[in-house]
Amino acid sequence: MNITNNTILITGGATGIGLELAKQFIANGNTVIICGRRENKLREAKNLLPALITKQCDISDIEKRRELYGFCMAQFPSVNILVNNAGIQREIDFRKGETDYLNGPSETAINLDATFHLTALFTPHFMKHKESAIINVSSGLGIVPLVIVPIYSATKSALHSFSISLRKQLKATTVKVFEILPPIVDTELDNGARDKRGQTDKGISAEKVAVESLKAIGKDIFEIPIGIVKVLRIGSRINPKLFLKIINKKSPVQTL
Ligand SMILES: NC(=O)c1ccc[n+]([C@@H]2O[C@H](COP(=O)([O-])OP(=O)(O)OC[C@H]3O[C@@H](n4cnc5c(N)ncnc54)[C@H](OP(=O)(O)O)[C@@H]3O)[C@@H](O)[C@H]2O)c1
Repeated sequence: MNITNNTILITGGATGIGLELAKQFIANGNTVIICGRRENKLREAKNLLPALITKQCDISDIEKRRELYGFCMAQFPSVNILVNNAGIQREIDFRKGETDYLNGPSETAINLDATFHLTALFTPHFMKHKESAIINVSSGLGIVPLVIVPIYSATKSALHSFSISLRKQLKATTVKVFEILPPIVDTELDNGARDKRGQTDKGISAEKVAVESLKAIGKDIFEIPIGIVKVLRIGSRINPKLFLKIINKKSPVQTL
């Protein structure tokens, strides 16, 4: 895939991995549009990268997704890459019944429904371009779940499955489907939960994820495990129990 001269929409591009992807794509001569819910984060990103185009949008809202698509079509019809990056992660303990489950935004709406719907909106347009791409950001936790974030892990497994199906469906088109599978990355994704549970390993930098991802995309490597996820992918097939234990070794659920 040519990684210059594209017009790229990155959901959740104002922070973390999305922002680093935006930075790298801009450095490679692309036009980048980002969206997110928080205006202040979009402003901060724009101050950091003045070339960025920002659009406030809550992608968990079906009408807002249509609006985002309409905005791109009206102002940036050259858009040919969608990065489904926005995501949230919540600790949910099902032994508490509804309490944890209902106490926060829906991971399925943000991590999954938004990805499916935006993909459906943009794919026919992308098929008119000479070369285009959908890039899904899943996770190593889609391979081996972290049991304290059960829905998050399930959404990432689903995203992996979806990426395979979509890649096959679009095989005869101009749309390439990539999946980035990061390990633990030092971002705000966990909303301070890692600190609360005393997790000292904050993971690799978002910059490393973005640099490795762009290299792989440029070489048409469609599944992109980053860092330790390369080991996780193979190891979990050989010894699933061991890898479930390793991933969950610091999880408080083990002691319950
Ligand atoms: N950090 C890790 O350890 C790790 C590991 C593997 C995979 N990932 C994946 O990487 C992706 C990026 O996460 P990150 O680690 O970079 O964390 P992050 O900095 O928290 O980024 C998530 C972004 O998504 C946006 N977002 C969340 N809900 C949204 C909504 N309803 N509408 C629009 N934007 C929304 C957030 O902005 P607003 O809050 O302003 O909307 C934020 O900018 C996620 O899909 C995550 O699952 C992360």
